Amino acid sequence: MSINLLLVDDQPDVLDGLRLAFKRTDYNLLTASSGEQAVQILSTEPVDVVLTDLKMSGLDGIGVLRHALSLDLPPAVIIMTAFGSIESAVDALKEGAYHYLTKPVNIKELRVLVEKAAEHRSLVRENRNLREQIDKRFGIEGMIGETSEMLAIYDKVRLIAPTRANVLILGESGTGKEVLAKAVHQASPRARKPFVAVHCAALPEALLESELFGHERGAFTGAVSKRQGRFELASGGTIFLDEIGEVPLSMQVKLLRVLEAREIQRVGGSETVSVDVRILAATNRDLAEEVSEGRFREDLYYRLNVVSITLPPLRHRRGDIPLLVRTFLAEFARENGREVPSISREAMDILTSYHWPGNVRELRNVIENTSVFLRGNTVEPANLPINVAKKAPPAAPGEPVTDGISFPMGMALEEVETAYLRKTLEICDGNRTRAADMLKISRRTLQRRIKELGLEDE
Ligand SMILES: Nc1ncnc2c1ncn2[C@@H]1O[C@H](COP(=O)(O)OP(=O)(O)OP(=O)(O)O)[C@@H](O)[C@H]1O
Ligand SMILES: [Mg+2]
Repeated sequence: MSINLLLVDDQPDVLDGLRLAFKRTDYNLLTASSGEQAVQILSTEPVDVVLTDLKMSGLDGIGVLRHALSLDLPPAVIIMTAFGSIESAVDALKEGAYHYLTKPVNIKELRVLVEKAAEHRSLVRENRNLREQIDKRFGIEGMIGETSEMLAIYDKVRLIAPTRANVLILGESGTGKEVLAKAVHQASPRARKPFVAVHCAALPEALLESELFGHERGAFTGAVSKRQGRFELASGGTIFLDEIGEVPLSMQVKLLRVLEAREIQRVGGSETVSVDVRILAATNRDLAEEVSEGRFREDLYYRLNVVSITLPPLRHRRGDIPLLVRTFLAEFARENGREVPSISREAMDILTSYHWPGNVRELRNVIENTSVFLRGNTVEPANLPINVAKKAPPAAPGEPVTDGISFPMGMALEEVETAYLRKTLEICDGNRTRAADMLKISRRTLQRRIKELGLEDE
């Protein structure tokens, strides 16, 4: 992106001097030999930085400044004043000038100042683009949802995106952790630099290390040439360490070193390479529990967890289901070159009350599947996959589950517990982590009770 720099002075030789000072730079130079001409340029050209003399015959520097500030997206204005007129310089600052310089100007100082102003200005512009996008979509890049749970998440993203803080993204599988990571990157000043995702669980330890840090030629059999790792590839941008909970302890030490020193060492190399990378990590494990069980390093956990964002399971934000359904229906219709189908009330009710163990990913798959096989132009219950259509009613914690479970007074406590555990496990499709979650006990306690009550073989 090139910066438009407007130089204003009514003394031709000064103007020439200024032009010369910026000749060998990337700026797009515009010049005006009077305040009036400057105003005219400002109203027709997008100008980022204005460097103007204060005292000019006709419209002076303050006049140019005022006009500049009245523009929709005001440029940064630097005012040059004669030595000794510090008072008017202060006035200019009060009026909203970005900075001032006293004449005769030092070229080096001038260049630095203009560069700073340009940077400032592109930040302002970026922020504004971002705000516009946000306002338009009432959300964050790529994320669908407008329940209070999601709005709170967007707020948090907006707050942390401009910083360099490491972010730990938590949530069940399919809740949108990767989508969120990309959104954080997109909303950050690093948006134009790379976003590099690493799926830590997919790689065996030895490969993971060279994947992350790169390797020197001959570092191991097969390392025929030097290779950059993901950290280096993400330089200036963001690295997303997905499934961080699966990283073996020995690799965790190495990651910790990168987080602390912000430098890496390629496999088989001795040289350290410093890296400027923002780190986002995600997991669907309970990392705090992993720490207490000794499977995850506490120091690394705290480093990664400067800020954490937890994505709610879809069953905790059912209010978003209709919006998601409609968006996905439209998306797949477009993909297949068909008209967007409507959906019957009954079908929508089923989708809204299903418990979505696979969260948004599962919903998206269901809608894709339904779209592909749809004959008419309305989605009816019969078009939905059987497991969704006939699934028991919601089983979110706090919502009463009444079907097939009632306890007559006088029943042995152990029998009640057995029946209750059995029902919970059934609702959770046998997934013990989720069942433990719902029962608000640790997975270990659940395992023990399952064993003690003889529910293991069911
Ligand atoms: N808020 C959302 N809006 C739109 N699409 C979403 C949203 N959340 C998730 N998705 C979609 O759901 C799918 C799964 O999302 P994603 O890969 O980010 O989940 P995840 O939390 O990383 O899952 P896993 O833990 O299994 O890796 C993707 O197709 C994604 O586009
Ligand atoms: Mg993921």
